[in-house]
Amino acid sequence: MAEAMIEFQNVTKQYQGGQPAVDGLTMSIDKGAITVFVGPSGCGKTTSLRMINRMVEPTSGVITVDGADVTSVPAAQLRRSMGYVMQSSGLMPHRSVLDNIATVPRLNGVSKAEARKRAQELLDVVGLASSLGKRYPSQLSGGQQQRVGVARALAADPPVLLMDEPFSAVDPVVRDELQKELLRLQHDLAKTIVFVTHDIDEATVLGDKVAVFAVGGKLAQYAAPQEILRAPANEFVAAFVGRDRGFRHLAFSPSDGVTIHPVSTITAEQLREEGSSDGWQLVVDDALRPLGWAGPGSATGTGPAMVPGGSLFRKGDTLRRALDAALSSPSGLGVAVDDDGRVAGVIAATEVLAVIESDRSIRHGGL
Ligand SMILES: Nc1ncnc2c1ncn2[C@@H]1O[C@H](COP(=O)(O)OP(=O)(O)O)[C@@H](O)[C@H]1O
Ligand SMILES: [Mg+2]
Repeated sequence: MAEAMIEFQNVTKQYQGGQPAVDGLTMSIDKGAITVFVGPSGCGKTTSLRMINRMVEPTSGVITVDGADVTSVPAAQLRRSMGYVMQSSGLMPHRSVLDNIATVPRLNGVSKAEARKRAQELLDVVGLASSLGKRYPSQLSGGQQQRVGVARALAADPPVLLMDEPFSAVDPVVRDELQKELLRLQHDLAKTIVFVTHDIDEATVLGDKVAVFAVGGKLAQYAAPQEILRAPANEFVAAFVGRDRGFRHLAFSPSDGVTIHPVSTITAEQLREEGSSDGWQLVVDDALRPLGWAGPGSATGTGPAMVPGGSLFRKGDTLRRALDAALSSPSGLGVAVDDDGRVAGVIAATEVLAVIESDRSIRHGGL
């Protein structure tokens, strides 16, 4: 059994006059693991998170951190002992990136020089170039700002990290990177992380355990992500996890069985000048990076010159990504690229589905 770091004991929060925002929450959060609160908007995720560091006080019930009732610790001190990352990075616009990261250590009495040195190191930890330290937050992209937010939360080396939809405002590609980065970080740091999201995919990618909240602030299911996908506790969870949940377990399956086939390519210039042949051809740039597909009609000049391709597949990706790539492509062929983004070939939707079928029968005892 994992050791508990945070415990909710029958915690209820009722804002003035309304229905409970959180209703009788009892749960134990493991030390050194990522626990994700997931659920639709308004179901009490943020309220639950904020009760941990007393940004919100419960109406009834007890919360303990490392065995101590949070109400026994002064709120300001408690907050500084936990990193907090929000959806908007919440950075101070008139302070440099380094000074933003150094905020809490400075409040804790660390010297300016020491705090800046640590901040500089943290830039590297969260995957940012050290030259960005002198910039102001508005000079960074959304994804970079969120990384700074994570660095700032880590600056005082707190054992607990509270993250409220930290990656929800960035585009899907950057979100993907940030998720990977967080997992890499966590591998080294082993913090106790409570992560809020409304996205079940993000929850299953990040969570060692996932708590699904239902409308009315009730905990609907609390289990490992595979368990929630495999056996939703009730109709609410099943509906939230989604109709395509039959495919979601693929996020845990390797794509080794999927074959990458050669593909006929054409440059955009060739397409313009000569048209395409009568099958689907992949349009590439000079570095052999995929641009889109030339459909069969392009040869006669009647079809669209080029249609956008779908998501990309990389060797080693999961079966879920293989399926996404194949199904999102107009040709039914998912584009596989190498580490430099160059075309490595294609994967066929029919073959990916066949691998999924055999994978499923393996998991169900070979039937
Ligand atoms: N400060 C507040 N005053 C009154 N009601 C609030 C306040 N904060 C949240 N609520 C209500 O509590 C419920 C849960 O909100 P919240 O915890 O923010 O949900 P979530 O983070 O899951 O979207 C919602 O119905 C919301 O309107
Ligand atoms: Mg919220």
